[in-house]
Amino acid sequence: MRKKLLAGNWKMNLAWNEAMTLFANIVSESKPYLDKVDIAVFPPSIYQRQCFEFAKQNKSAVIVGAQDCSAQNGGAFTGEVSAQMLRSIGVSHCLVGHSERREYHHEGSRMLSEKVERLLEVGLIPVFCCGESLQDRDNDNQTFVIDNQLDGRIFELNAELFSKVVIAYEPVWAIGTGRTATAEQAQDMHEFIRGLVQSKYGAEIAQNLRILYGGSMNESNAAELLNQPDVDGGLIGGASLKLDAFISIIKAAAL
Ligand code: PGA
Repeated sequence: MRKKLLAGNWKMNLAWNEAMTLFANIVSESKPYLDKVDIAVFPPSIYQRQCFEFAKQNKSAVIVGAQDCSAQNGGAFTGEVSAQMLRSIGVSHCLVGHSERREYHHEGSRMLSEKVERLLEVGLIPVFCCGESLQDRDNDNQTFVIDNQLDGRIFELNAELFSKVVIAYEPVWAIGTGRTATAEQAQDMHEFIRGLVQSKYGAEIAQNLRILYGGSMNESNAAELLNQPDVDGGLIGGASLKLDAFISIIKAAAL
């Protein structure tokens, strides 16, 4: 049985005091649910250490993740943060290939697979994001696009390494738009992804793989989405910035 993972992606939001207040509230209000679901928060990088310390001091299992990392090991790469540095401050998970990074920072499959490798080398868990554009969805090309985003590089990992990866299916047309995939659309794509993984790595790895849905998940649609057999949690942007909404989604997953 896969344990659901609810991950809040804060993106580039919240001043430091707002971020720490929200994190403290998440830690205290998520307590009753942490034995049933995993909860992760992906704050901006400069807040990660303090969030980690806060969770530790409060003996909370809330996970602290990073929104990005460098494809390099270290050295003269101004502005970059390495996987090793993330590990050294207590971060355990890292998003890779979020559509905003693919679009605004032109991150392609080669760079993304290098980031995945850097993370796995130091024992961090990559949350690998994939998703089709509106145009691809309108042309019914979604399975082709996802196959392309996963095949080739990330599927070059050996089975042991791949088994550590979490996948997030995030249709680009649903991110931050208020337009959510229907539960049926999400289930179809998650089932398709699990099928691809099964043909590459076999049934056991496919059955253990967690596939999160992301794209305008909120307190009204979470229960239906999370009820789908192949939806193992959510990557939540906007709604994770509102305490009540995020906790409602966690509750829906814990039922
Ligand atoms: P959203 O963002 O929930 O605001 O659509 C999801 C994401 O980008 O991970």
